[in-house]
Amino acid sequence: MNSFTFYNPVKLHFGENALENLPKEIAQCGNKVLVVYGGGSIKKNGVYDAVMKQLQEADKTIFELSGVEPNPRVETARLGIEMCKKEGIDIVLAVGGGSVIDCSKLIVAGAKYDGDAWDLVTKKAFAKEALPLGTVLTLAATGSEMNAGSVITNAATEEKISWGSPATFPKFSILNPLYTVSVPKNHTVYGMVDMMSHVLEQYFHNATNTPITDEMCEGVLRTVIATAPKLIEDLDNVALRETILLAGTIGLNGFLSIGSRGDWASHNIEHAISAVYDIPHAGGLAILQPHWMRHSVSVNPERFAGLATRVFGVDATGKSVEEVANEGIDRLSEFWTSLGAPSRLHDYNIDDTKFDQIIKHAMLNGPFGNFKKLHEKDVREILQNSL
Ligand code: NZQ
Ligand code: ZN
Repeated sequence: MNSFTFYNPVKLHFGENALENLPKEIAQCGNKVLVVYGGGSIKKNGVYDAVMKQLQEADKTIFELSGVEPNPRVETARLGIEMCKKEGIDIVLAVGGGSVIDCSKLIVAGAKYDGDAWDLVTKKAFAKEALPLGTVLTLAATGSEMNAGSVITNAATEEKISWGSPATFPKFSILNPLYTVSVPKNHTVYGMVDMMSHVLEQYFHNATNTPITDEMCEGVLRTVIATAPKLIEDLDNVALRETILLAGTIGLNGFLSIGSRGDWASHNIEHAISAVYDIPHAGGLAILQPHWMRHSVSVNPERFAGLATRVFGVDATGKSVEEVANEGIDRLSEFWTSLGAPSRLHDYNIDDTKFDQIIKHAMLNGPFGNFKKLHEKDVREILQNSL
């Protein structure tokens, strides 16, 4: 295990009455609340009304920023930052999925920064401080509700960049499985692919003696694999929603990578693709990650074989380690396809026309990936195999 310092200050309220904690959480944060949300799903499923009721009863002055896009844009965050500065907002409340939360992270940091928000994303400037941020999560996927990360797109420059600082952890997050019941099938699938992908990114590392986190990763994966096929046939099932909601949070709140450093190359390549093509994040991952695995299996075939037998139930009898490892990768890809996720870039009408641009974006900070270092030719090969 690597030496580590672990820090995660997010207070989680989880369960069907979790929203009742909102007034006490914001009581100390001042009077002016900016509620940030997306394209309107919260108005259809009652979450907007429930949140507004709590805020009105607490006598808060409410401001709103709606229209945060999936793959949130820096332009939208700039609008929120302007409102915070102009109105003297005391706390931002993000109500939505990962995109709304990520956009809100840039709003709270940008509100305390004098320059342009994009500087914080590109790391030209560091987000030293931020307004307090609370979240009401409506989609199980990213883990953004319990981490400090944020992924922001700049449509003008066709860039999508991951950033964050200790100041951008939410102060609290409210998770009610009932709020996720209205998530349509496609986004439910994407969410489950995304959380599995996060676990896999953290599972593939080069640290030794990590049995606790290995077991935790494998346990989360087995649970999602057992739950996902039932959930897509029974989208209203609150118990299944509850399981998946917690899996998404555990998948990326830092617990799974204590003592090791995950790979994250598939995410880096996916962000480069969705910067150019604006496809759903997890749709891209479902295509790319199995190809990253095939490209990287030789680094440590035993680790892939362990995943294959313990998580995907591959029978190792009479097979070489490499055969077992590759069978596990095939099972993962088949599993995602069986849920309805795409498996080829062609499924999104993407061909190799913009590969040079995607590779350049992925290589912005030089060779990347902590399990296997990827260079330009590796990225091209993974993209080519994903067509
Ligand atoms: O905009 P609204 O109307 O709310 O609709 C959303 C959106 O269209 C809808 N939705 C959300 N909750 C719903 C609902 N529809 C019905 N009922 C509900 N309860 O779902 C659509 C997708 O929402 P979005 O927030 O975009 O999805 P997700 O949570 O998957 O977030 C994706 C973004 O997060 C980034 C991705 O790159 C992408 O930009 N990521 C953030 C990470 C982080 N901060 O830690 C890590 C991830 O790896 C990821 O990169
Ligand atoms: Zn992700």
